Amino acid sequence: MAPGRVPPDEGEHAAPKAKAGAATRHPVPVGIDAPILEVMASMRAMRRLRPDPVPEDLLEQIVEAGTWAPSANHLQRYAFVVVTDRDQIARLATIWQAVVRFYRATFLAVPRPDLEPEQFRRTLDAVDYQAAHFAETPAVIVACYDFGSYPNTVRRRMLRAPAAFRRFGGRRTIAMLRNIGTVTDRSEAASIYPAVQNVLLAARSLGLAANLTTWHLMAEGEVKRVLGIPRRTHTYALIPLGWPMGTFGRVRRKPAGQMTHRDRW
Ligand SMILES: Cc1cc2nc3c(=O)[nH]c(=O)nc-3n(C[C@H](O)[C@H](O)[C@H](O)COP(=O)(O)O)c2cc1C
Repeated sequence: MAPGRVPPDEGEHAAPKAKAGAATRHPVPVGIDAPILEVMASMRAMRRLRPDPVPEDLLEQIVEAGTWAPSANHLQRYAFVVVTDRDQIARLATIWQAVVRFYRATFLAVPRPDLEPEQFRRTLDAVDYQAAHFAETPAVIVACYDFGSYPNTVRRRMLRAPAAFRRFGGRRTIAMLRNIGTVTDRSEAASIYPAVQNVLLAARSLGLAANLTTWHLMAEGEVKRVLGIPRRTHTYALIPLGWPMGTFGRVRRKPAGQMTHRDRW
């Protein structure tokens, strides 16, 4: 099948019709050699998971794909906490249910005229389903990154090297010094999200369902305490993972042309 010819929407939205434990049909290519563009075009947030465990070798393969991502300055300071222990997932479920309740009452209560009401309702149903069944999630991967003392070391070096700025002039130098924090903050996040995307793509290509979530950040301290993540290490995504209850379908996005500017905004 040619890229862009992924069959129409049969993803998570079709899930309510599927029976738990029923053999899953895959109308899109699945497998280690699935074409990358078709995997991308059908990699949706899949929140309804079967409780069946995910084999260890697949989890290892998925995390390895995460480590193939680029990282700023090739620091490779990723950490992936792979959680399959039922008690640990039950603890995460309690936190997840609290943050979802909060999100439902705040962020998700904001009217979304940009979305079809039916589409939004289905997403909310899936969010609620995931919250209610979170304790049954077969595996959760928490993606972390930690620049450690690197930004401060860079900052000190920059401040000690005024000669390096001389040729830039005052205004640009001040802007550059002001932007150090922006660069390091965004670079840390940008060093983990390509890895997160690789994790999602690898899971999807292996026929596993997953979704990128960040709502745990509302209670990041609690999540870190449960998982024993060091205080200074940042968590960027919590990815529930398992076999899909529904089938994969093509993503629905605005046309690329609407989001593209050529040569200037
Ligand atoms: C940065 C980021 C954070 C997200 N956080 C959450 C989250 O906390 N919970 C959740 O259910 N989905 C989360 N999502 C998934 C989006 O809701 C999802 O990609 C979007 O609704 C489109 O759905 P689709 O990929 O199934 O088409 C997040 C996605 C991104 C990119």
